[in-house]
Amino acid sequence: MIITIANAKGGVAKTTSAMYLAAAYGLRYEKEVHVLDADVQGSASLWADLAEQNGEDLGMVRVDAANASTLKRLRRTLDQETDDGLWIVDAPPQGPVLETAVKVADFVVVPTSPSPLDLQQAWATMSDIPEGKPAAVLVTRAERRTNAYRQTIIGLDEAGTPRFEEEHMISKRQELVNALGRKPSRLYEYPTVLDEIMQVMQEANA
Ligand SMILES: Nc1ncnc2c1ncn2[C@@H]1O[C@H](COP(=O)(O)OP(=O)(O)OP(=O)(O)O)[C@@H](O)[C@H]1O
Ligand SMILES: [Mg+2]
Repeated sequence: MIITIANAKGGVAKTTSAMYLAAAYGLRYEKEVHVLDADVQGSASLWADLAEQNGEDLGMVRVDAANASTLKRLRRTLDQETDDGLWIVDAPPQGPVLETAVKVADFVVVPTSPSPLDLQQAWATMSDIPEGKPAAVLVTRAERRTNAYRQTIIGLDEAGTPRFEEEHMISKRQELVNALGRKPSRLYEYPTVLDEIMQVMQEANA
């Protein structure tokens, strides 16, 4: 299964979400999980490099660089074999690699900050996702008591945009500001996000 994390807006916790969802999968299923770094910034790869330098063990999580060709090849391989593993793509903000990363995905997660303004970008990203492909908006750095958070949820619901359950939205946390290069030890809401994706996929394949 391929989960692509995508949003044209920068700094919305794409890389953090890719690494934490992978950690959640590794822990839950005790299986190797691949984060595919398709972003030219290489933040996921840098995360893995720093972890190695610092002696932080990422456990079941492997980070590999990816491009449009390797993503397409992975899709073909997965279509031919019945592999129940997980690949998580940290997509770039725009361009043909983003398009491919969305195309090859079984599920697309669109993280957004809790700002009604940033929602425009999340919607733009959602609107580029092919009809019928499972996708949902994940609010990150959520401060649930704020007006901005409330307005973001209301905005999503009024537009009928698929979103994760409110309890699964990722709260703003100081620990996550400094997460780069570290082994995700506490996983916060991410395991519940993973469960929600798995449930949607199970229902879609039933
Ligand atoms: N839940 C959170 N609470 C607080 N800070 C967070 C949270 N999630 C991520 N961050 C911080 O927000 C910043 C952006 O996160 P990240 O690099 O994952 O976003 P991105 O969408 O991958 O950015 P880019 O567009 O540069 O690829 C980082 O400093 C990260 O540590
Ligand atoms: Mg990133």
